Amino acid sequence: MTMFPIQKLNCSWSLVATTISIVALVSVVQLFLFPAVPSIDYFGYKQVKDSCVPTVDAEKNNGLHKQQQQSLKARFPADLHKAVVYRGAPWKADIGRWLAGCDSVASPIKVHEEITGKKCKDGCSGQGVCNHEFGQCRCFHGFKGDGCSERLEFSCNYPATEELPYGRWVVSICSAHCDTTRAMCFCGEGTKYPNRPVAEACGFQITLPSEPGAPKFTNWSKPDHENIFSTNGNVRGWCNVDPVEAYNLKVKFKEECDCKYDGLFGRFCETIVLSTCINQCSGQGHCRGGFCQCDSGWYGVDCSIPSVKSSIRDWPQWLIPAQISVPNDGPNMTRLKAAVEKKRPLIYVYDLPPEFNSLLLEGRHFKFECVNRIYDQDNVTVWTEQLYGSQIAMYESMLASPHRTLNGEEADYYFVPVLDSCIITRADDAPHLSMEKHMGLRSSLTLELYKKALDHIAQQYPYWNRSSGKDHIWSFSWDEGACYAPKEIWSSMMLVHWGNTNSKHNHSTTAYWADNWDSISSEKRGNHSCFDPQKDLVIPAWKRPDGTSLSLKLWARPREARKTLFYFNGNLGPAYENGRPESTYSMGIRQKLAEEFGSLPNKDGNLGKQHVEDVIVIGRPSERYHEDLASSVFCGVMPGDGWSGRMEDSILQGCIPVVIQDGIFLPWENVFNYESFAVRIREDEIPNLVNILRGFNETEVEFMLANVKNIWQRYLHRDSVLLEAKRQKSAFGHVSDWAEKLSELSEDSVFSTFIQTLHYKLYNDPWRIENRNPNKETGLPEECILKV
Ligand SMILES: *[C@@H]1O[C@H](CO)[C@@H](O)[C@H](O)[C@H]1NC(C)=O
Ligand SMILES: *[C@@H]1O[C@H](CO)[C@@H](O)[C@H](O)[C@H]1NC(C)=O
Ligand SMILES: *[C@@H]1O[C@H](CO)[C@@H](O)[C@H](O)[C@H]1NC(C)=O
Ligand SMILES: *[C@@H]1O[C@H](CO)[C@@H](O)[C@H](O)[C@H]1NC(C)=O
Ligand SMILES: *[C@@H]1O[C@H](CO)[C@@H](O)[C@H](O)[C@H]1NC(C)=O
Ligand SMILES: *[C@@H]1O[C@H](CO)[C@@H](O)[C@H](O)[C@H]1NC(C)=O
Ligand SMILES: *[C@@H]1O[C@H](CO)[C@@H](O)[C@H](O)[C@H]1NC(C)=O
Repeated sequence: MTMFPIQKLNCSWSLVATTISIVALVSVVQLFLFPAVPSIDYFGYKQVKDSCVPTVDAEKNNGLHKQQQQSLKARFPADLHKAVVYRGAPWKADIGRWLAGCDSVASPIKVHEEITGKKCKDGCSGQGVCNHEFGQCRCFHGFKGDGCSERLEFSCNYPATEELPYGRWVVSICSAHCDTTRAMCFCGEGTKYPNRPVAEACGFQITLPSEPGAPKFTNWSKPDHENIFSTNGNVRGWCNVDPVEAYNLKVKFKEECDCKYDGLFGRFCETIVLSTCINQCSGQGHCRGGFCQCDSGWYGVDCSIPSVKSSIRDWPQWLIPAQISVPNDGPNMTRLKAAVEKKRPLIYVYDLPPEFNSLLLEGRHFKFECVNRIYDQDNVTVWTEQLYGSQIAMYESMLASPHRTLNGEEADYYFVPVLDSCIITRADDAPHLSMEKHMGLRSSLTLELYKKALDHIAQQYPYWNRSSGKDHIWSFSWDEGACYAPKEIWSSMMLVHWGNTNSKHNHSTTAYWADNWDSISSEKRGNHSCFDPQKDLVIPAWKRPDGTSLSLKLWARPREARKTLFYFNGNLGPAYENGRPESTYSMGIRQKLAEEFGSLPNKDGNLGKQHVEDVIVIGRPSERYHEDLASSVFCGVMPGDGWSGRMEDSILQGCIPVVIQDGIFLPWENVFNYESFAVRIREDEIPNLVNILRGFNETEVEFMLANVKNIWQRYLHRDSVLLEAKRQKSAFGHVSDWAEKLSELSEDSVFSTFIQTLHYKLYNDPWRIENRNPNKETGLPEECILKV
């Protein structure tokens, strides 16, 4: 592309807010665009005045540099608890110091974003989305080929045998009409409601239990056509049942049939609703059961990347440019450059082929699988309790973040969006996701998918080989975290919930056999630990945004209102009614706690040996769970079947976390100074728990409580929730109570903590210091840039 001499033109936003293709015809200009919402200060960072650092132009010799570093140390001394506070949070001293002196004064730099316009074969035949960077189609579920014109057949059933005419059981098993583009089962032609799902047991004969309380028996070799296809209102039908009549109990229907698939709502799937897509296609596309079908000119997993064909007016916030250069290619323009002001760190998000994300969403057999929200009959957001939802929350935040760049050469980090929470929940969904090769292990299936993604990026892009992946970021949201990351990607940063350094628990700790990874060969897994605090991060789990909880301000409950010394409520294992039967559950930790402090009788009628009034350890779900946490000073954080989300429960309710899991890191534990707001107790100290807690004096307790109150929002996924709030607001003109309550919050949340951490690592990780490219603009004063 040739850049032509430019004629500077000052024009207003409205004047240039027209499609680029028209602009291109007019002339070769460099346009000065004013962002629709002018905002340099994307981050809401208030610059810390006192810590303003003059740029040093003097010689960059080592001596001076050391002096500068010393001055950071002098200006930001650690407190008694060894923390340096930055933006309300007690960080580990080195990190807090650098952030206070450097992150706070970072200024924007200019990044050149290239907007491309390569065409795809046959426009992907309307059966896929064109990636305009490569001119490659991303085909919808059930389609393939360069132009997505070929059909794939995904059978619902495994091959039939004499005994099993519908094959052996799999979630997609179907005795009615199989939609072979997605391996999903519907009523089909000839019925009154052809698009009504006939999911799983619905289509087969079910025998009621012989004794009360015993489970129903489904005979997977016997279809139930007499019932489900019946038109007789006295028979328990399904495919011809009129919803209104059924709601009014005028006709019978088969209760085992339900509305499992996404995009449909109501007892009889009678209402078409929004499906869940990444960022709901950013308003530039239609969510096709989980796969974004982007409007013409847009692409990317969430339709957030414009091509040269898209209107500048619609460009997303993260790309609102300062300047656009339009080359003189006439109507066949294939690329243009936009200079955008951004602050480091810059993240490049790979637009991977859809098998790693969109197809997994589109092919879902259960709407709650691997998403953190669905939509109700009015298309209003219904948040789920899925702890794993943080993976989508982080992905969505990254895609919409002002730290995102399309410029891989300028990027500091590379995010590889493989969704393990999807492949894992979908592992038994349909024959085409067969686990036969994997001995039934979802862990092994997942490893394979990540390896495939690596092969893709290492072949197609230059970025992996340059750093051997050290600047790449992967996310593992499932119980065992990155334990089963393929060995080839271990050099990268892992975002996980399970920070097991394997120093004590050096094997698979899940009680769920399909997630176990002990038997995966070292050929594939290597022998890495599950978590390396030098490079990885534990990210807070997803907690449903709850307006009521938020308005009660439980995080701010004062000391006086916290009468319970220690509280833990959760499954306590085999000694209790309804307890998980495996002795390996919770690695035995909750069992030990209950043995000492159990507040309710176990199966043998025993209370804990050291049972006391103000220490509550129970295994009975409570309506008042959040209230109970907020009435306590200390709250237990222990593993469940893997990680458990207890840290988030504790912090969000303003309770001081008491962590009992040896060698296993919790969210932000390698960057925050946990001593300022949490207590760690070794597993073998459990009998001494109460003595240890009573040993803290009131000053210390108040100090820790105050810190919990300062950092609670850093355990809250606010960014992605607010993106959803914005979408709902533009759809309905008003917001729900969760949206209102969340918009009132303004402290740093999960995502800003993540970005701050990346910023620190960018200038302080040893390998970065050694490989610094002196030509890259940093936006930082000299003293912030360490040299070898
Ligand atoms: C299931 O149905 C098949 C076919 O009708 C029948 O042969 C078989 O005995 C049934 N199995 C059970 C356990 O009822
Ligand atoms: C633009 O593309 C059209 C159709 O592909 C082609 O016929 C034409 O020659 C091209 N024009 C230029 C200037 O390249
Ligand atoms: C909800 O969204 C779906 C899909 O876009 C649409 O067909 C339906 O009419 C919408 N329903 C309401 C109540 O807006
Ligand atoms: C990266 O390295 C691998 C292994 O050596 C090689 O196969 C691949 O082609 C390289 N990728 C690029 C883009 O050069
Ligand atoms: C795992 O830990 C056990 C005991 O804690 C130890 O005996 C064993 O050698 C360890 N294995 C590895 C591979 O480190
Ligand atoms: C793990 O792998 C490293 C590097 O391949 C090797 O040096 C080490 O001996 C291995 N450790 C074990 C316990 O297998
Ligand atoms: C509370 O404990 C801390 C740490 O042990 C100690 O420094 C402080 O003097 C104690 N304060 C009071 C009032 O006892």
